[in-house]
Amino acid sequence: GKNMIVYNEKQKYFNLSNKYISYIMNIMDNGQIGHLYYGNKISENISVSHMFRQRGCILAPCTYRNNLDFSLELMRQEYPAYGTGDYREPAYQLRMKDGSRITNFIYKTHKIYSGKKKLEGLPATFGDEKDVTTLDIILEDSLINCQVILSYSIFEDLPVIVRSANFINMGDNDLYLERALSMSIDFFDSEYDMVQLDGAWSRERHVHIRKLEKGKQSISSSRGASSASHNPFFALKRKNTTETTGEIYGFTLIYSGNFIAQSEVDDYDVTRAMIGINPFEFEWKLKKNESFQTPEAVIVYSNSGMNGMSQTFHSLFKNHLIRSKWANKVRPILINNWEATYFDFTEESILKIAEKAKSLGIELFVLDDGWFGERNNDSTSLGDWDVNYKKLPNGIDGLATKINDLDMMFGLWFEPEMVNEISSLYEKHPEWAVSVPNRNMTYGRNQFVLDFSNDEVVEYIYNKMADILNCGKISYIKWDMNRNITEAYSKILPNNRQKEFFHRYILGVYKLYEKLTTAFPDILFESCASGGGRFDAGMLYYAPQAWTSDDTDAVERLKIQYGTSMLYPISSMGSHVSAVPNHQVSRETSLKMRGDVAYFGTFGYELDVTKMSDEEISEVKKQIEYFKNYREVIQLGDFYRLQNGENGRFAWMCISKDKSTAVVAFYKVLAQPNPSLKKICLEGLIPYGEYYCEETKETYFGDELMNFGLICETEFTGLIQEDSYKGVYHSGTDKGDFTSFVYTFKLK
Ligand code: DGJ
Repeated sequence: GKNMIVYNEKQKYFNLSNKYISYIMNIMDNGQIGHLYYGNKISENISVSHMFRQRGCILAPCTYRNNLDFSLELMRQEYPAYGTGDYREPAYQLRMKDGSRITNFIYKTHKIYSGKKKLEGLPATFGDEKDVTTLDIILEDSLINCQVILSYSIFEDLPVIVRSANFINMGDNDLYLERALSMSIDFFDSEYDMVQLDGAWSRERHVHIRKLEKGKQSISSSRGASSASHNPFFALKRKNTTETTGEIYGFTLIYSGNFIAQSEVDDYDVTRAMIGINPFEFEWKLKKNESFQTPEAVIVYSNSGMNGMSQTFHSLFKNHLIRSKWANKVRPILINNWEATYFDFTEESILKIAEKAKSLGIELFVLDDGWFGERNNDSTSLGDWDVNYKKLPNGIDGLATKINDLDMMFGLWFEPEMVNEISSLYEKHPEWAVSVPNRNMTYGRNQFVLDFSNDEVVEYIYNKMADILNCGKISYIKWDMNRNITEAYSKILPNNRQKEFFHRYILGVYKLYEKLTTAFPDILFESCASGGGRFDAGMLYYAPQAWTSDDTDAVERLKIQYGTSMLYPISSMGSHVSAVPNHQVSRETSLKMRGDVAYFGTFGYELDVTKMSDEEISEVKKQIEYFKNYREVIQLGDFYRLQNGENGRFAWMCISKDKSTAVVAFYKVLAQPNPSLKKICLEGLIPYGEYYCEETKETYFGDELMNFGLICETEFTGLIQEDSYKGVYHSGTDKGDFTSFVYTFKLK
């Protein structure tokens, strides 16, 4: 309801609160906005005056004569500027006609309303009047007649604030935004560790934790995509925060392009946390009556550890970000032909795989790369979205009909943003490829990027895709993106606006997603960027699932899925069982472990099922049956990480919302000689509930499993001498490297 946001007229502060959190800011003496508090909920009728208190410093730059107490350098602020006393990195920077960059945005008025407005052209969270309340603070610089609207929304049921800024030029002169971040918060102290997700192709989103030190610590992307290098996310946690206890603030940006995420610890141990579009390679011209809307930032607070933070992100994304009908539905089990056939397939070989897959219980067949143009390897045909009749004599329509006749859904791969040099599209429209005239064009997987800042290009690709999708037989699209941008430049932008390119490119990608998801609302989209190279909240708005990584090795996937779960829901993580030796790392793991890892995601297969042994076939059937029984718990329930991979031991679990069913998984990477006993403590059960475990065939109390835990590992401790014990194993059924266990608990 409305009372989630109150303005105290007398003391000039705003208090945003729900049952979990309070977010308090004030109008400072100079009319700008200060930050007072964000964290655990505190009483609403507090006297905030002591929070205003500032220390003076005789050398600090002062706003007012003879007043040491008001120095911007010493103020904790909400959307700080540079150049008037604060030497930290600012939230924004605006260049004026005279070349100066000094602004003064002061409080003019504010609005509080139920619900939340859409962000024009950008993905963002949504909620209706019951769910969410919004505060717009309108700031104005009267000298240049420009406004900034800082928007804050608070959700009734979640410890989260989302915010963004909108710049409106109402003056006669053009303005240039050199920097426009989505959020900045000055935290009182710096006793935090920074959690981030870093990687590269095939090892995306590994968790890294480092202590905050004086100065700046930042991650960013300038690749034109959020990237596999760093995810647009970071968290600040207290030193003693664990998975289940302690304070943590999590930040993400609902955006898929260049970003920066940064913590800056200043001279007085205040931590400035910020996230937004990367100012490097960014500038935006604002003419009279034009506005610039920043992407939305999400700020989660948890006092129940990293799991608390993750569950908040998961639930926010599932209920207030993912727009698709699929958001809260279990996902179809799919088979993808990529690793089974690569480019080498025909309608006949595809149907053989599909028929076999159907007999195993698989529900969706996905035809990957290679179905169009002359695409027999990765050097040609991107951009030519016309079926290759040599491979598929009955076209996509014909193949889709045959797959549908098997009572399976049909899915198709596209890479809409790209063009090969060898293609009819490039022959016709070389100017549509991103490049700088007279300069070399850098190749990436032999391909170039199409200029999606140009509406004509977006429109063309939309029509080509819609032509195929209009057959009405396609239920799923995998939208791939396999190279980052180089020689960033658009032939349709004027010289002095070239730094708008990267943002305009992503707006073009969103435009295409918007058009497709509007025209084909039933299609399930899976985003992909050579695996997890653009796995972010912006993409989730349109595509409820993403191919987590090209790396499907069960061991490597543990680290990837563990890190990804920090903010992305299990139902969003594309996860497949693939062949061994694994195609990315050449490791061999059991079919069981591959299945046990892939269960914690959308689940599917990516191998040639026609080449499996009878034994494997029957195991796969069992996996599929198990997954069908429990995918509701896994994909729609609550997720907890239980063990973080230390010593190669990972564990996690999902529990249904009503707490009646839990699926718990434990994974061991390498075997230990003469190991100690190990147990895991479960989470989220009803303490006095009695749970029967299908695998151990024993009954336990919830509190027993959460406190004593479950001894989950009966590790092999050596082979006993032949002569005395006839070659029996001394103890333990868990033999060798790469093993896993899944336990299913049911409330009696
Ligand atoms: C990269 C993707 O991540 C793979 O799954 C596959 O679709 C290939 N591209 C196809 O070229």
